[in-house]
Amino acid sequence: MLSAAELTLVAEVDARILRDAAKRTPKSFIPQEPTPKQAEFLALGCLEALYGGAAGGGKSSALLMAALQYVHVPGYAALILRRTYADLSLPGAIMDRAHDWLQGTGARWNDRDKRWTFPSGASLQFGYCETAKDVYRYQGAELQFLGWDELTQFPEQPYRYLLSRLRRTEGVRTPLRARAASNPGGLGHEWVKRRFLESTDVDRRFVAASLVDNPHLDQGEYRRALALLDATTRRQLEHGIWDRDSGGLVYSFDEGRNLAKAPELTTYLLGIDYGFTDATAFTVLGWRDGDPTVYVVESYKRRGLTPSDAAEQAILETAERLLQAAPLSDGLVKKVDKAANEVVIQHGQLDSIGMPPMTMSFGVADKSWINKLKAGDKIKFAAEMKGGSPIVSRYEMAK
Ligand SMILES: Nc1ncnc2c1ncn2[C@@H]1O[C@H](COP(=O)(O)OP(=O)(O)OP(=O)(O)O)[C@@H](O)[C@H]1O
Ligand SMILES: [Mg+2]
Repeated sequence: MLSAAELTLVAEVDARILRDAAKRTPKSFIPQEPTPKQAEFLALGCLEALYGGAAGGGKSSALLMAALQYVHVPGYAALILRRTYADLSLPGAIMDRAHDWLQGTGARWNDRDKRWTFPSGASLQFGYCETAKDVYRYQGAELQFLGWDELTQFPEQPYRYLLSRLRRTEGVRTPLRARAASNPGGLGHEWVKRRFLESTDVDRRFVAASLVDNPHLDQGEYRRALALLDATTRRQLEHGIWDRDSGGLVYSFDEGRNLAKAPELTTYLLGIDYGFTDATAFTVLGWRDGDPTVYVVESYKRRGLTPSDAAEQAILETAERLLQAAPLSDGLVKKVDKAANEVVIQHGQLDSIGMPPMTMSFGVADKSWINKLKAGDKIKFAAEMKGGSPIVSRYEMAK
């Protein structure tokens, strides 16, 4: 175990090696001059860093520069991943860019392994990690650099697993670095945001990319292309904004398009996503008879309960909330049929189930109410449909 002073020394040495290496990296391997933001990303000495934000900010170029920072060091090994093989092979994407940069420099390309080998013996491999088992392709690798392009396209598990593959190889004095580039949005948005933007860990840094950081891009043209997107995706890509609806239920939540005031609903459905390691998540959907629109009434999470306890509690709480919310209507009890557990009520407009004024019979949510109610009682009540028949779901005596 190293003492705090020794750790500081190691960190300082790493930072010095990194600064020197940045100076000494043969320019020919990195033909682009880093912008100030890219230089900030390249100078980081911490274990993990994300260069994240606006599309076109120069993130992928910065990631490639970072991977190439130590290719003059014998034994240095770097790996850059995209989510799928198809992503990796896209023209203009990071592997293609590496070809533009490295062809004719003395680095050799092995197409089968998707690997560049440098005159020093250092290597830079490209790979993908689409399914859970793809991580095992790289489990034998001893890497000093692990690069993730478009990190929000990955789940967290392979990221964490491969982080453990970063190791110092005997005699290779380069810092261990996991570096990622990403736009906000995508299936990994929440974990990436939590890990990098909400972390206080000094060994994990975030550099915010913005479109204006990159003077090498035709920004007018880029903005025109972005203008065709919906408001949320545009905000994420143009300004690199990481916020979105907190539940993450709707990928591109657009208040103007996705937010509607629900009318009085007649049926509710509670959906449960049991969480064993994560929280158990609930969502309440609702609709009304004869209307094909389904509304998301609420969604929430519960931690620290067994899934079945969480479910039971959620059912009770949700029912309570929804019933409290159901509007009460005026009713006059005309008759109580104890044998059938029914009450006949003359009622006004019944908003809870969208029924016009009339006299009709209702079941009851709680059988004890049959003994409490009597003909002539004036009540305020809400109803719901159960098994196709209306029942009194809540009532109170009218004053
Ligand atoms: N320092 C630089 N010098 C010259 N050109 C650069 C530099 N940085 C980036 N570029 C160029 O700007 C364009 C956009 O950069 P890049 O693809 O790295 O951005 P990005 O943030 O990864 O974009 P996206 O969000 O679309 O993935 C590319 O053509 C790239 O080659
Ligand atoms: Mg990119």
